Amino acid sequence: MANSSLHVAGLFAGIGGLELGLARAGHHTELLCEIEPGAVAVLRNRFPKVPVHEDVTTLKRLPRAVNLVVAGFPCQDLSQAGLTKGLRGQQSSLVDHVFRLLRASDVPWVVLENVPFMLQLGRGNAIRHVTSELERLGYHWAYRVLDTRAFGLPQRRERVFIVASKEKSPAPLLLEASRQPRDPIAAKDVACGFFWTEGLRGLGWAVDAVPTLKGGSTIGIPSPPAIWMPDGQFVTPDIRDAERLQGFDPDWSLPAAEVARNSHRWKLVGNAVSVPVAEWVGSRLSATTTWKPLLPVPFDRRSAWPRAAFSDDGDAWTVDVSTWPVSKPAKSIQDFLKFPTKPLSHRALQGFLSRLSRGNLKRPAAFDRDLQRAIAAAPADAPRPKLKRRTTARSSTRVLR
Ligand SMILES: C[S@@+](CC[C@H](N)C(=O)[O-])C[C@H]1O[C@@H](n2cnc3c(N)ncnc32)[C@H](O)[C@@H]1O
Repeated sequence: MANSSLHVAGLFAGIGGLELGLARAGHHTELLCEIEPGAVAVLRNRFPKVPVHEDVTTLKRLPRAVNLVVAGFPCQDLSQAGLTKGLRGQQSSLVDHVFRLLRASDVPWVVLENVPFMLQLGRGNAIRHVTSELERLGYHWAYRVLDTRAFGLPQRRERVFIVASKEKSPAPLLLEASRQPRDPIAAKDVACGFFWTEGLRGLGWAVDAVPTLKGGSTIGIPSPPAIWMPDGQFVTPDIRDAERLQGFDPDWSLPAAEVARNSHRWKLVGNAVSVPVAEWVGSRLSATTTWKPLLPVPFDRRSAWPRAAFSDDGDAWTVDVSTWPVSKPAKSIQDFLKFPTKPLSHRALQGFLSRLSRGNLKRPAAFDRDLQRAIAAAPADAPRPKLKRRTTARSSTRVLR
């Protein structure tokens, strides 16, 4: 069958980054499945003709036409504890609903996406579970960590893409091209991104880029990264630029603001798949190639898994490929930003400096000097209103994203 136009079921669809990228590669979405009301509002608005089912656990079957299932599944319950529970049959982990649905229909193609941490989680427990389920269902599989920066966006964002097929080995499609990552040069006039919500154990330092946009932060709120500008200012980008940094049009996630706070959009955008990466994966599904992996090496499936691998006749192999299958020209982060930036508040700067001074993270001396200056120049914040803390079962779930 030609893969130039596949019929897609998008599970755990979020705000539809995967499905939008696949549409740009010529594929059609037949069904979306997403539980979170803000994300559902975006999907209904942006994919008005596609039915949205609101919980994967109650989705009985896939539409008959579907020949590609895609899922950027949450992986919080692929920890050892979660899996053991699943295997005892008391509570399936969410990704197991993907396998349940695949078992019930004959779908030739699957694309899964997740954080690279899943390759290490429980000494490879999560990726071992996913690939062995795929094998049990008769799929060949290949996976690779891909970096959004390769696709022309100034965001450093690594994600694992797993492609599985019942028809042929997906290894040549996913692993063929490998470019040398373009390392940005740290220079005086280059902006650097970092997480102002961190500062104790890590900074997420990104030269001429923002670090990975995230669904949450260590201080518990969905929040933008900060950018240290060459003029010494510390600013945060506008949500519309964050959407652009993921490959969406500005205001793609605006429909979420009808059902949630506007700041919730940061979480949705941070959770999304970068659109041009999804488009590249989608375009590779219909590529023809005679490429064979050069010097594949077998590896031990019982410990952490490599950054790229594929199955062949029941064995698992790794190959040396970069996270850059392409090297699209990119604007500097400063030139990329189109919307007004916001200076970090006095409180945010001070909190960040306090965390920074308790840790021992390396950073340029000029960074601390500019930070002190910015604190001195920032107007004092109004006192914080006292808020009651609400804890729900859902917000206390540990999510690995
Ligand atoms: C990592 S995000 C996926 C992001 C998506 N690929 C995108 O591009 O925006 C995982 C999604 O799974 C959703 N999810 C969690 N439990 C679910 C369930 N039971 N049914 C459907 N979706 C669920 C979450 O709300 C979240 O949006």
